Amino acid sequence: MLRPLCPADAPALIEFFASHTPETVHDRYGYSISDMSPERAGALVGVNQAWDLALGIFGAGRSGERLAAVGRFCRDPDGSGAEFALVVRENRRHLGMGSLLLKKLIEVAAGRGLDRLWAQISADNPAMLDLARSLGFVLSQDEDRCMRAVRPLRPAAKPKRRR
Ligand SMILES: CC(C)(COP(=O)(O)OP(=O)(O)OC[C@H]1O[C@@H](n2cnc3c(N)ncnc32)[C@H](O)[C@@H]1OP(=O)(O)O)[C@@H](O)C(=O)NCCC(=O)NCCS
Repeated sequence: MLRPLCPADAPALIEFFASHTPETVHDRYGYSISDMSPERAGALVGVNQAWDLALGIFGAGRSGERLAAVGRFCRDPDGSGAEFALVVRENRRHLGMGSLLLKKLIEVAAGRGLDRLWAQISADNPAMLDLARSLGFVLSQDEDRCMRAVRPLRPAAKPKRRR
């Protein structure tokens, strides 16, 4: 089930983070973090969903719902564009969840009138580079060993006025 994250999902996010290998943490965050504190988890699941967006795909686990994937965007300071990030549980990859989440982020961002989505992606992350390219992101060299992926968004068409 795909749905917005909410404050009650903090324990699920902590469990999800604990399942990541160091490589996944590095690919997702761009640096090493060893643990997810309750405060940080609370901030990540408690975003203002009308401004930013944090989505989770949940599956059934032994003790209830378990996160299989998370996708989010966070508005730039001027609000016109947003940086996105994705992470899929290692044993649930290649099932289309990454592309499902990124398509949803694009759809919502365009619907809210944002002019672009972007991310910095390690040059050593072919999975994310291929996924971004396949969904219309333009890749360019950014910092050392890092690519910048940018997708211009066309705002959703306004409904026609009835005569
Ligand atoms: C990148 C990531 C989100 C992809 O998630 P996923 O659910 O496996 O992706 P999908 O199943 O939707 O695959 C979509 C496309 O991505 C590309 N892709 C996915 N995994 C790939 C891999 N290992 N190598 C090359 N391309 C890959 C392919 O183009 C694929 O399309 P295909 O299945 O038709 O070949 C996942 O590997 C991940 O969580 N990586 C660690 C965190 C990360 O890198 N986040 C990015 C930070 S912006």
